Amino acid sequence: MAYTVPKLTDYSEEALDKAADELLTALQDEGLTVRDDADWKNFRDRWMARKNGVLTQINDLWLKTAPKDAKRNVGQKVNQLNKTVESGVEATRKRLFYEQIATVEVDGEPILVHHLDAYSGEAAERKLRSQAIDITLPGNRRPLGAEHPIIETMNEMVSVFRNLGYSIEEGPEIETDYYNFESLNFPPNHPARDTQDTLFIAGQESKPLRDRLLLRTHTSPVQIRTMEKMKPPVRVVCPGKVHRNDAPDATHSPIFHQIEGLAVDTNITFCDLKGTLDHAMKAFFGSSVKTRFYPSFFPFTEPSADVQISCIFCGGKGYRDGGRCPQCKASGWIELLGCGMVDPNVYGFVDYDPKKFSGFAFGMGVERIAILKYGVDDIQLFFQGDVRFLEQFG
Ligand code: PHE
Repeated sequence: MAYTVPKLTDYSEEALDKAADELLTALQDEGLTVRDDADWKNFRDRWMARKNGVLTQINDLWLKTAPKDAKRNVGQKVNQLNKTVESGVEATRKRLFYEQIATVEVDGEPILVHHLDAYSGEAAERKLRSQAIDITLPGNRRPLGAEHPIIETMNEMVSVFRNLGYSIEEGPEIETDYYNFESLNFPPNHPARDTQDTLFIAGQESKPLRDRLLLRTHTSPVQIRTMEKMKPPVRVVCPGKVHRNDAPDATHSPIFHQIEGLAVDTNITFCDLKGTLDHAMKAFFGSSVKTRFYPSFFPFTEPSADVQISCIFCGGKGYRDGGRCPQCKASGWIELLGCGMVDPNVYGFVDYDPKKFSGFAFGMGVERIAILKYGVDDIQLFFQGDVRFLEQFG
């Protein structure tokens, strides 16, 4: 006869002890009949299920119905029983586990296995042998990846400016005509747009020109987005991917990367621009590198300059190994980036007062710098994903 929780009528100490004894005897007896995992689950539920398990029942039938003066005593007993039942159920699970472990011999070696039934006899031995592994074989090595040289160069450049107190801003690679051109002082149909032809998203003829989408041709739109977002002082660098209608060859790629810089504050002069870029180039290419600022044109800077560094291959001499230096075409200088003082017209687009603030901007090509730094002779190598090339940077 399976144990059922009796109703209590007598709440005396002796009656309680007797009821508890009966209950624990039943727990022990039933625990001994547990043979496998399914049995154990039933056993656990019968005693501990929240809904109508034996523990729930003693709570309902013994504690809740107890008269006031016996409540305290019954409560302590019931608590004690809760603990004992819980540990009895757990002990049964452990017993079952140890019973299921057995030692079988495979090739003369004793092996501990779980689940006696599944692992006895010849079939079990066959199964075990098929699962055996040779721990003397070398393991599978997963090759570690490495940062792409372009990302690495970009991060290094950015960290030079971070050390100068610049923060980092990013912008979308799909831009509107307004951010990529108009607000940077490229009027519609201005010839300066021709050098920055790109892919335009199709089917936008119904939109006003300024809202039409294109793949950004430079990171300069992030200048505008930054100035719309914050007031001076501004010191940011903006790394990112850009696109141009350039046929791929050893020095051109329709996709490449730039790092833009922008500093706007009171009293910023061309001197600050020169000092900042001179420092950055020395930090990057070594302290013996010289810089030279060559007049140039960008619609959004005035005056504008191209920055050249003394050729790092011939030390600026223009010749080496008894001949012309091919890298600088014997000039001694290598052109590296564009820069200038922010054109007052640009401030008009972002609501900065050009009488109060001045600033400089610069933009450099990451591939160009990486080519020089690593001595790579074809920009395409950065985009082909050839492991033989990439693993050299690992
Ligand atoms: N955006 C320019 C380019 O891609 C570079 C530049 C940036 C020039 C900032 C001046 C100031 O050609």
